[in-house]
Amino acid sequence: MLINSDRRPHPLTAVTYLRKHIVALKNLILLRPWTDDDRDPFAAMNADTEVMRCFQKPLTKTESDQFLVRIRTIFDEQGWGLWAVEVDGAFAGLTGLASPSFSAHFTPCVEIGWRFRREYWGRGIAYAAASAAQTFAFEQLKLRELITFTTAANTRSRRLMERLGFSTSPEDDFLHPLLAPDSPIRPHVLYRKSIASWHAAPSPGGPPREAGIIQAT
Ligand SMILES: CC(C)(COP(=O)(O)OP(=O)(O)OC[C@H]1O[C@@H](n2cnc3c(N)ncnc32)[C@H](O)[C@@H]1OP(=O)(O)O)[C@@H](O)C(=O)NCCC(=O)NCCS
Repeated sequence: MLINSDRRPHPLTAVTYLRKHIVALKNLILLRPWTDDDRDPFAAMNADTEVMRCFQKPLTKTESDQFLVRIRTIFDEQGWGLWAVEVDGAFAGLTGLASPSFSAHFTPCVEIGWRFRREYWGRGIAYAAASAAQTFAFEQLKLRELITFTTAANTRSRRLMERLGFSTSPEDDFLHPLLAPDSPIRPHVLYRKSIASWHAAPSPGGPPREAGIIQAT
């Protein structure tokens, strides 16, 4: 595994770390554990066809609730995972770290991922939130490598990966093993970032145009 077990943080450590981190972003964006109140806005996001365009299909309320139970279980067990992202007190989406449930040439590994309600797109919010999760992965968990992947046509997500300093190479392209052979979203691209490249160009954990985000709300 890429996670050094001596460095497994206490659940509160992750939250405290991210809260401290977000204070640096003037309390606008908060990565936090989930609450029951998140279930409805989470389900609304997962039912949005545009948000889910690059996934198999939008989720029903039941599927969304089940997904949230899985996220919260993992979060409770390891103290970190996929965080709820709050912007100005409202549920905006999720970002954080997860381990893929399938086997591929790059597993086992830790993946960084994101999903945001449409009204939060195009404002640098996903970047700010994912930067915090990335900082946590390299500085707190000391992961040797983080990966992220998406269907090849997901240009918004790919731009975010590149802005976060991830790079891709054609030999890492793969067909997602959990998708049907004829699925148009099956061809996936894999992006990687090593702790060495993190140290070479550490992100402040927030967006370079932080002030723009504050003003954009
Ligand atoms: C993928 C996703 C998170 C990207 O969100 P996003 O808002 O485009 O990402 P960012 O936070 O990096 O924002 C970048 C955009 O904000 C703009 N922006 C505005 N103010 C900004 C600021 N202060 N700082 C940075 N960017 C800013 C950028 O110019 C850029 O706009 P552009 O896309 O028109 O070029 C979002 O599209 C999403 O949730 N998609 C659905 C779920 C999904 O596909 N998840 C990934 C599966 S792998």
